[in-house]
Amino acid sequence: MRSPTIIPRVTAPPRRAWYVVARSRDLKRQPLSVTLFGERWVLFRGGRTLGALEDRCPHRGAPLSLGKVRDGCLQCPYHGWRFDEGGACRRVPALVRPKLGQAHAARSRPVMERQGWVWMSGAEERPREDPPRLPGYGVEGFVTTEEVDDLPADLLAVAENILDVPHTSFLHGGLFRQEPSHLRRVTVTRERHRVQAEFHDEPIPGGILGRVLGGNSGTLVHRDAFLRPCLAVVEYGLGSRQLFIVNALTPTEAGRTRVWSRASLRAGALGPFLAWASRPIGRRVLAQDRKMLAAIRRDTGPMVSTEADLLRPHIRRLLADASDDRGTSSWSKTFELRL
Ligand code: FES
Repeated sequence: MRSPTIIPRVTAPPRRAWYVVARSRDLKRQPLSVTLFGERWVLFRGGRTLGALEDRCPHRGAPLSLGKVRDGCLQCPYHGWRFDEGGACRRVPALVRPKLGQAHAARSRPVMERQGWVWMSGAEERPREDPPRLPGYGVEGFVTTEEVDDLPADLLAVAENILDVPHTSFLHGGLFRQEPSHLRRVTVTRERHRVQAEFHDEPIPGGILGRVLGGNSGTLVHRDAFLRPCLAVVEYGLGSRQLFIVNALTPTEAGRTRVWSRASLRAGALGPFLAWASRPIGRRVLAQDRKMLAAIRRDTGPMVSTEADLLRPHIRRLLADASDDRGTSSWSKTFELRL
């Protein structure tokens, strides 16, 4: 029998990467304060594009998020200095002949909008690659519902929790899975930027998930994937029905992660009703996870893993390699587990 693995301590997510910091629809005419890696930033819609500046005026430190957008610039609420999307100071109202330079500029970060989310870089540099195109959202035939939650754990622990199957029978017992009794095969495939677990011969689940998938025969598709550095994606399919749960994980403060969650369901004419009816269950699942993540005693001793903890070592490796700006080597193996 293989000896269990002792889990190493926290792996920090990479800084030079895109993280979701807001929903596009929440960023209107007023600036919006957001937090990433423990720092406060302010988003605003400038004259040409989006801006993401440090939420601190370089003049006297006033929060720029309390200001207003004027003539395409963000105007500080204290003395009215104005900053463009790149942070350059364009106006100091009290000066007749201003000479403004880099010293008067606000710190800025690369920011972009894609698929209804605002993504910001965790570093000054723009990440080398754009965020991936996400499944389901905005695709004809799919109905999407969204939730946002703050979880009391680091990004790695939250990603593992979302993609971890064995806990669902116990912590969420009865909601969408029963106590494990059958042997199942699971293929884990790790590629340069992602790792995926594909479950074979899985029975059609009961509970709300079974109702959403709407059948008692056919081949169930179930894949769980982590795309570095911040996306946890769960996919189920049965016949023509398909469900993608995409979770974007944002490291806000040390030991805290904001989860931007989207469930996109394709279920024909019943789709809108099923999406609406399953929301309370989804919230209940999230509340159970939040409670457990808050209760976990992280710093009281080592944590031990087994083969059944399928994805954590790969997520950890992907995060560590991303921090060092490296691709991760490919790897694949099929396991037999009681799930
Ligand atoms: Fe911002 Fe003075 S503190 S303009």
